[in-house]
Amino acid sequence: MRSKISEIREKIEKYQVSNLKELEEMRVALLGKKGQITQLFSEFRYVADNEKKEIGKLVNNLKNTAIDKIASLKENLEVSDEKFSNLDLSLPGYPFKFGSRHPISLVKEELYDIFKTLGFSIAEGPEIEDDWHVFSSLNFAEEHPARDMQDTFFIENKPDILLRTHTSSVQVRVMEKQKPPIRVICPGRVFRNEAISARAHCIFHQIEGLYVDENVSFSDLKQTLLFFAQELFGDEIKIRLRPSYFPFTEPSAEMDVSCNLCGGKGCAVCKHTGWLEILGCGMVDKNVLENCNIDSKKYSGYAFGMGIERIAMIKYQIKDLRLYFENDYRFLNQFKSVL
Ligand code: PHE
Repeated sequence: MRSKISEIREKIEKYQVSNLKELEEMRVALLGKKGQITQLFSEFRYVADNEKKEIGKLVNNLKNTAIDKIASLKENLEVSDEKFSNLDLSLPGYPFKFGSRHPISLVKEELYDIFKTLGFSIAEGPEIEDDWHVFSSLNFAEEHPARDMQDTFFIENKPDILLRTHTSSVQVRVMEKQKPPIRVICPGRVFRNEAISARAHCIFHQIEGLYVDENVSFSDLKQTLLFFAQELFGDEIKIRLRPSYFPFTEPSAEMDVSCNLCGGKGCAVCKHTGWLEILGCGMVDKNVLENCNIDSKKYSGYAFGMGIERIAMIKYQIKDLRLYFENDYRFLNQFKSVL
């Protein structure tokens, strides 16, 4: 029996087949009903008892060798099978289409990076808010027009539950929870009840910033905004601050950047002024700090807020706000990113 086993083993090792038919013949000759290995199993009962253990092992090993050999021959055959015979491995692969990122995401991430280098962290909050966080805590007078249904979306006509009109609400939530120093930017969607046009939409995105600490001054705000504008638009950009009014900041200002299309000379985009308005800012009103239990004698702070759509419009010279929401492939496909 031993010699038979080694004879068959040798045969298996030498086996070569050139097609699947020959392979099947080989399988039948070894493992078929009357195959040589099958035969060994039926002869096994004649093996002397004291040899059964060892011979049994040999026969089993032989069977496994045969199975492995058949499998590997089959694999080789499949690779060299006819349908692959004209396979040219040197051909370049099919072109792979990269997606593009939405301009709002691109700008948002750029803004994150800029403010990250200044030590700001990101804070987020709910889109459905209450009156306190959107208006009252921020010093909006009872009769302020922003509280009107015309400007704000209320939920089921409940005067206290509404869609936030700015992400200043997140700043309030942070101030209520955290002790100064606070340095956060608050990105997110905001909602205003406006007719949709090329220049206005009822949904848009904001990033607002807040810094509260001891001795924070207006010059800190100005330097931060200058740094931000230069990082975003390049070193040549100029900024200017115009006095303005917001209920939650005092003094308040609006910031313009020199028009990046005409370089400040005046063109149709900047309506021949040479300047483009990009954000609102100011020193956090004492009442707001106190509303959030922050000692306004010890601490001061600045805040600023901007619309991401507006920044992206200037950066990429997009003329119509509605394009951001239409998901038109031709529009979106223009914004390639390295990621
Ligand atoms: N919250 C203001 C808005 O939505 C922007 C702003 C933020 C202005 C912070 C001043 C300070 O228009």
